[in-house]
Amino acid sequence: MPTASKVLDRVLVLEMVRVTEAAAIAASTLTGRGDEKAADAAAVEAMRAALNELDMDGTVVIGEGERDEAPMLYIGEKVGTGNGPAIDIALDPLEGTTICAKSGPNSLAVLAIAEAGGLLNAPDVYMDKLAVGPGLPAGVIDLDRTPTENVRAIAAAKGVQPKDIIACVLDRPRHEALIAELRGIGCGVVLIGDGDVAGVIATSDPDTTIDVYMGSGGAPEGVLACAALRCVGGQFKGRLLFRNDDERARARKWGIEDLDRQYDLKELAKGDCIFAATGVTDGSLLEGVKRHGGKMTTESVVMRASSGTVRWVKGEHRLDQ
Ligand code: FBP
Repeated sequence: MPTASKVLDRVLVLEMVRVTEAAAIAASTLTGRGDEKAADAAAVEAMRAALNELDMDGTVVIGEGERDEAPMLYIGEKVGTGNGPAIDIALDPLEGTTICAKSGPNSLAVLAIAEAGGLLNAPDVYMDKLAVGPGLPAGVIDLDRTPTENVRAIAAAKGVQPKDIIACVLDRPRHEALIAELRGIGCGVVLIGDGDVAGVIATSDPDTTIDVYMGSGGAPEGVLACAALRCVGGQFKGRLLFRNDDERARARKWGIEDLDRQYDLKELAKGDCIFAATGVTDGSLLEGVKRHGGKMTTESVVMRASSGTVRWVKGEHRLDQ
């Protein structure tokens, strides 16, 4: 268990929920409206305003993009009042912009915080991801093995057959071969349209019946999911994937030298960290924002790696306030 960080003061744990709540509420006004950009912009603005109220010297290490691409919450942006601890922040004010625009499942407002240097400054490239929940022997998954070998290892560790294993995979043409291989050995494949932060976290929740998460998605989302898995337990392997020299140059710019490295959970999110999320739309992890009878309800989760404490927070917000 990591030692509790004095920097990540307990007060900040609950403050993080206010921040993700603000982003989720703002995005929810645009749920199902078919406008991804507007929903994202609303979430970004609300999250930034909420972060800037907090007494901390925060630096966005994973955000909306590089300074010249993103007007707000760009990588390197300072947030908070500046009075308080130095904290690194990984955030995605609206994880699943398309989901929100179409009112599909599992759209979230998420963030993770750690002491300075605790979160990998992942460039906005793809990452090959492999994740399982808690209770399995260390090393049961490895990106250098084939999907079949990984499924066999997970099945053996769980005392079941490969056909009993359920894998969650993003529904993308690039995953055709992976999906065919998994189905070929009898696995159940849960295909998700978007939102792999929730997909990875689902491996830690027996109610989802998902045993393993496999496939590529955004590297920033990989780091966010790792912060959550550090709190609830589980294993994660990630490897950055580059489509061109520009992406390789981005990685080098953020200090990544070994571009082929297979990262472990604790290399992506190390030391003590806090993960918070609020549901924008209903999903496997959280209920979405609902408006009824002059009120709005939110559901959030906030967790801390050093204590392993997971808090579920239901919020009731008056619409006339
Ligand atoms: P956005 O919130 O940026 O739309 O990301 C949604 C998402 O599904 C992530 O969860 C996932 O990591 C990534 O997109 C996958 O990228 P792609 O859509 O290019 O396959």
